[in-house]
Order: sequence, then structure tokens, then C-alpha cells
Amino acid sequence: MRRVLVAGNWKMHKTHLEAIQVVQKLSYRLDPADYERVEVVVAPPFTALRSVQTVIEADHLLIRLGAQNVHWKDEGAFTGEIAPRMLQSLSVSYVIVGHSERREIFGETDEWVNRKAKAVLAHGMVPIVCVGETEAERDEGASEDKVRRQVLAGLAGLDPEAVAGSVVAYEPIWAIGTGRTASADDADAMAALIRETIADRWGDAAERIRILYGGSVNPGNIAGLMAKRNIDGGLVGGASLDPDTFASVIRYWM
Ligand code: PGA
Repeated sequence: MRRVLVAGNWKMHKTHLEAIQVVQKLSYRLDPADYERVEVVVAPPFTALRSVQTVIEADHLLIRLGAQNVHWKDEGAFTGEIAPRMLQSLSVSYVIVGHSERREIFGETDEWVNRKAKAVLAHGMVPIVCVGETEAERDEGASEDKVRRQVLAGLAGLDPEAVAGSVVAYEPIWAIGTGRTASADDADAMAALIRETIADRWGDAAERIRILYGGSVNPGNIAGLMAKRNIDGGLVGGASLDPDTFASVIRYWM
């Protein structure tokens, strides 16, 4: 019922020329049947969005375009920021909001994440709202409370239809870029908690919203994660930078 989504978050990697090559190589490794099973998204840096969009359109690729961040305002004196309309006009379908690197390094608050999610939806794009605990929070047994709070704050004020069409990515911070993954059972348990939290506030939307796992996803662990009931896909950092590796993640059943 929920369409599988695998999104590559390239973070601050790849020039626009490198990005074109990666997308072309990735497309050579995927068949129409793969796109039927999995919705494939790449989220390059802003500077590569236009180039990747051009390749996708020229070659009629079924890869969808994602962005890694956005501002919530339509325009204005916000040096260095990017407006939702700018992404929309580049045929961006998905926008990652509240990635832990943005929260931890750049000080994004829950309130900003919520404004961004609303702005993304208002412009016909899908927010991928990231949540997840630090290692210290995990050791203190505070993971559930933190994730519940981030989910409720990130989606606050949305109607059930908007929630159903959004995506939440559970990314334990201690698992990002470290090679350590949450066990499939632990990831599924947190995804279940996220679904329950959403059900309490938004009812049936909880069965329709897609929940991804992120944090050192690779070709060796994706199948185990995907076998879990509550996990609908992956948000993939390091393993999305190489087209062969990313294709292997996407074709997780092989
Ligand atoms: P990673 O990053 O796959 O390199 O751990 C995931 C993410 O931060 O989205």
C-alpha cells in the first residue's frame, strides 16, 4: 500500500558535473521494473539541481529530484537561503527538512522544521522530516521522548491529508556516517512508535505516511530493514554517492 522510497542524500558532495555523471551512471544500472518497485530520489547540493533536472528531463529518467534544505519564506532579504518556489520551479519533488546535521550544526529548531515542512507542502512538494536521537539521549533512555516530540513538532498544524502525503525519516544520530546501524528490530520499533504517535493525533494518516530509516544504510543491511513492517524505505547518505553502491541499495531484494 505504501510505495517504497529510497532517497540519496548527497550532503555537501559533488560538483554539478560530477552530479550529472552519477545520475547518468545510476540510470544505466536501473531497469523500469526497479522504478516500479521503488521510488528513487537523489538530493544533490543546490548548485547541481538544475544540471540534474536537465539530465532527468532530457533522458526521460524516472529518478525524482530532491533538495536538502529550504527556507520557509517565499522571498526576501535572507542571504544564502533558498525559497520553496525556486525548488518547485526546478521540478524538485522532495525536500529534506530538519536533517540532524542542520539541527546540530546549524541550530535549526523544531519550529523552523515545522515552518519548512508547511512551506514545502504549500508548494506541492513532499517534505522528508528527519528525526532522531543522539548517542547520549539513547544512553539516557530518552530516545522515544525525543523522537515523539520531534514528530509532533515537525508536523504540527498539518491536516491529516498533508500528514499522509509527507515522509518521516528516523535517523539515529549515532548511526549517521559512522558505519553503525540500528538493528532492524530497533529501527522498526522506533518507526512503529512514530506511527502510533501520528495515529493518536492524525488517525488514519498514520497508515499512509511513509517512514524511512536512515543511518549507515548500505547494500548489506537494507534488505533486513526493508523486511520490517513499519519501514517504507531508506534515506541514504554515504552509500548514495557511488552509483553502483546506490543501485545495489535500491535493488535490495536481489
Ligand atoms: P549515512 O547518512 O547513510 O552516511 O549514515 C544518512 C543521512 O544522514 O541521511
